[in-house]
Amino acid sequence: MSEKIKVVFVCLGNICRSPAAEGAFKHLVQKRGLEDLFEIDSAGTAEYHVGEPPHETTTQVARERGIILKHLCRQFQYADFLKFDHIIAMDNSNYKNILSMARDEAQKKKVMKFRRFDSKVNGEPDVPDPYYDGIAGFEHVQDIVERASEGFLEWILQNHSISKQDFEENEE
Ligand code: 4NP
Repeated sequence: MSEKIKVVFVCLGNICRSPAAEGAFKHLVQKRGLEDLFEIDSAGTAEYHVGEPPHETTTQVARERGIILKHLCRQFQYADFLKFDHIIAMDNSNYKNILSMARDEAQKKKVMKFRRFDSKVNGEPDVPDPYYDGIAGFEHVQDIVERASEGFLEWILQNHSISKQDFEENEE
C-alpha cells in the first residue's frame, strides 16, 4: 500500500482518553505487524494541556499493560480534517465539537465515536472521562480503549480492503 491510513483519536484534554487510545491502537497494530500501514495520532478539543505529556495515571496504567505512551498534548485543528482519514471521538461532546468544525459532508463522514467498535456495548456510549476518578477509572478506560481498538482495526481492515498480500508485503 502506498498511502498510509491516517487515524487521529480525540478527547477533551488529550492527556487521558485519547493518548490511551492512541497507545492501545499503536500497540495492537505493531503486534499484528501492520505499523507501516498506519499513521496514528491523538489530539484534544481543548487547549488546557497543550505541550504536556499524558496524565501520570494514564501513563502508569498503560505501562502496566506493556504500552509506552510518548505523545505530547496538542489541540485538534481544522487541518486535521485534511490530513486524517478517520477522526475518532471519545465522547459525544467531542464528537459534536469536531463535527461543528467540519466544512463539508466528506469531512463529517470521517468522524466516528470510538465505542461503536467496542464489542461489549450496544450503541455508542462515551469513553468516560477518568480525570477526576481514582485509578479504577483509568483502568476502566484502558480496558475500553484496548477492546475498541480491536474492533476498530477489524473495521479498518475490511473497509480499506486490506488484503493478505498487504500483510505479507509488510512482513518482508
Ligand atoms: P481527557 O480528560 O479529555 O480524557 O484528556 C481530561 C483532561 C483534562 C481535563 C478534562 C478532561 N481538564 O478539564 O483539564
